[in-house]
Amino acid sequence: MPKWLPINKLFQIRITTCVASILCLIALIQFFASYGQYNYSHLPREHIYNNLYINVNPHLVVKKSIPECKYEEVLQSTKSLSSWEVPKVSDKFSVKDLMNGSYAPETCNPLFSVAILVTYRNRQSQLDVFLPYIHNFLRKQNIHYKIFLVEQQDNKAWNKGMLYNIGVKYAIAEKFPCLILHDVDLLPLDEGNLYACLKQPRHISASIDKFRYVLTYKSLVGGVLAIRADQYVELNGFSNRFTGWGGEDDDFAARIAAHKLDILRFPPELSRYTMIVHPQEAKNTQRHNIMDENKKGMNKDGYDSVEYATVSVKTHRLFTMIGVKL
Ligand code: BGC
Ligand code: MN
Repeated sequence: MPKWLPINKLFQIRITTCVASILCLIALIQFFASYGQYNYSHLPREHIYNNLYINVNPHLVVKKSIPECKYEEVLQSTKSLSSWEVPKVSDKFSVKDLMNGSYAPETCNPLFSVAILVTYRNRQSQLDVFLPYIHNFLRKQNIHYKIFLVEQQDNKAWNKGMLYNIGVKYAIAEKFPCLILHDVDLLPLDEGNLYACLKQPRHISASIDKFRYVLTYKSLVGGVLAIRADQYVELNGFSNRFTGWGGEDDDFAARIAAHKLDILRFPPELSRYTMIVHPQEAKNTQRHNIMDENKKGMNKDGYDSVEYATVSVKTHRLFTMIGVKL
């Protein structure tokens, strides 16, 4: 030991090294502990069919000359893409059979009609990847669906809950019995991930690459969620009080629990998603407080109380745009 190093200095160095090593060890243990948690409680594959909410839009013309669509093949599919195989631009895209963002199979009568609501503002590059990808994915599923892009067209703070409440009014006016609330940056990887509602709310994006395919907490319903239109109304939709990023989905999960509904999920091997990389938005630091207030029942706001300045509806081939000024 060099003579000039005092004993207390040496102690300090040792303590610092010890603390640093312990912290590293904890981080390593945590990393490996969560790394293996690909599993969460979910419907067994063989129970999925009986839990499906079979309901078709009364506006859809049923053709007597063709059979009912079958879904076993989709549900039993084990075909999957890995995140890195997802095409970033789709050269294999045709607009065949698409009109206003909606599609119905030609050769059989579907058992499911699904309104897919995508809230959106200023993410053109993600939308350019999302739309062709999701249409290619969904057209293989034998379902009737329609994509509603709900765009916030003002410079006010982002309000995803309000956009869903407004979009859902249009989906319900068009008599869609099942709603899928969908982030624009999430792409499903598993062909067996049937885009249909269950009798109970269904959290679809349970296994996202960004979170190393781990469900980060049990009550998470963010990302992609399927819920029956009647249940959405029963819960009074989303709170209109969350602005910026985060919280509105956790509040929605609390509404689901308060109404004694369950959150169901498909097995992880049917629930994988890749997230299109983007910087994290600033989190709403008030989100926990608002949620606590909402829980106390002081603010029973939601679907029935949403207010907005203007809404315009425009149809495009790949989607119907609900443009909203809040
Ligand atoms: C936010 C949620 C979000 C989740 C994602 C939570 O802290 O409140 O809105 O979906 O994080 O991990
Ligand atoms: Mn995102």
